[in-house]
Amino acid sequence: MYKTFFHLIFQRMDPEKAHHLAFGWIRLAARTPVLRTFVAAALAPRFKELRTEALGRRMHGPFGLAAGFDKNATAIDGMAMLGFDHVEIGTVTAQPQPGNPKKRLFRLVPDRALINRMGFNNDGSAAVADRLAARTPVFRTTLGVNIGKTKVVPEEEAVGDYVTSTERLAAHADYLVVNVSSPNTPGLRNLQAVDHLRPLLTAVREAADRTVTDRRVPLLVKIAPDLTDADIDAVADLALELGLDGIIATNTTIARDLGLTSDPALINEAGGLSGAPVKDRSLEVLRRLYARVGDRITLVGVGGITTAEDAWQRILAGATLIQGYSAFIYEGPFWCRALHKGLAARLRNSPYATLADAVGAEHQQVTP
Ligand SMILES: Cc1cc2nc3c(=O)[nH]c(=O)nc-3n(C[C@H](O)[C@H](O)[C@H](O)COP(=O)(O)O)c2cc1C
Repeated sequence: MYKTFFHLIFQRMDPEKAHHLAFGWIRLAARTPVLRTFVAAALAPRFKELRTEALGRRMHGPFGLAAGFDKNATAIDGMAMLGFDHVEIGTVTAQPQPGNPKKRLFRLVPDRALINRMGFNNDGSAAVADRLAARTPVFRTTLGVNIGKTKVVPEEEAVGDYVTSTERLAAHADYLVVNVSSPNTPGLRNLQAVDHLRPLLTAVREAADRTVTDRRVPLLVKIAPDLTDADIDAVADLALELGLDGIIATNTTIARDLGLTSDPALINEAGGLSGAPVKDRSLEVLRRLYARVGDRITLVGVGGITTAEDAWQRILAGATLIQGYSAFIYEGPFWCRALHKGLAARLRNSPYATLADAVGAEHQQVTP
């Protein structure tokens, strides 16, 4: 049903307009008491076997909404209503900013992919903090807060910019993510180099501890799929050295040599590519990270996840949590439900008693 709707309505609309329209519906449904209960019951059934503990939180399951969909924290309950077990808002920057000129979001329908160069359009961390402070949650969910650098702030002053957002937002976050991997803020990805990343993560950790004294806010870093293997290892080692809580792998890619079949004019649009074509590389990055860090820190798998089988593969490869964005555009509101159902079935048919037992299982040596 959604697929027909997508082809007849959304596909003919500008992708960003379609996003705002769908977003408006989700927010409206979440604000309407009887409707939201009905929608949540239909779309977010709970599976006992998928219960997940991660980052000091108990969650209904491992599957969350990746950053970028709810940049300003206006639809957290709406996304929980649709079945996302955690919701990562942002990227939020210290200063409000409009993002890049439109058009800046493109659908590559034959490839089940998107290209975006949104450029962190968001209300800024002061406004988002006010919104989170005023919020009365309807559904129990885990809230991730993803922060990035304000575009006009030079690279040398990036640390201060992230610290400002941390001071404003950490108190509202169940976990905090330092995003250094979006391709649409010039110079941002240079911060992934460990010489830049070490002082940045150290300062954000200190700011979080200074601001929130009654608990330890888990801190994660989100990395690009375009890092070299040596860079991935270096980030993994740094995460262990700094006592980071997790790594999110991966953001969108700037690569285009991925066997894409869409209109070349679209393929050549500047920006980050997401969806099915990044699946293999995101999985590879995750595998590499798990081989390095094992279960010492929480790995979050994201990038091209569409089916329950994709999600299951990420868990076996080492992800405790998984996230998605692009497939939601193509699969629609029944996506989380199908994914949870399929994942629960895979776990039941596997040799593992719990989902936690399956995390990283493919790395275990089989002894003859
Ligand atoms: C339109 C769009 C906007 C995004 N904005 C952000 C963002 O602000 N911050 C971020 O960390 N990731 C952002 N992402 C990346 C996603 O969170 C995710 O890492 C990436 O899309 C890969 O997952 P997917 O293939 O399931 O979409 C964005 C992705 C899309 C498609």
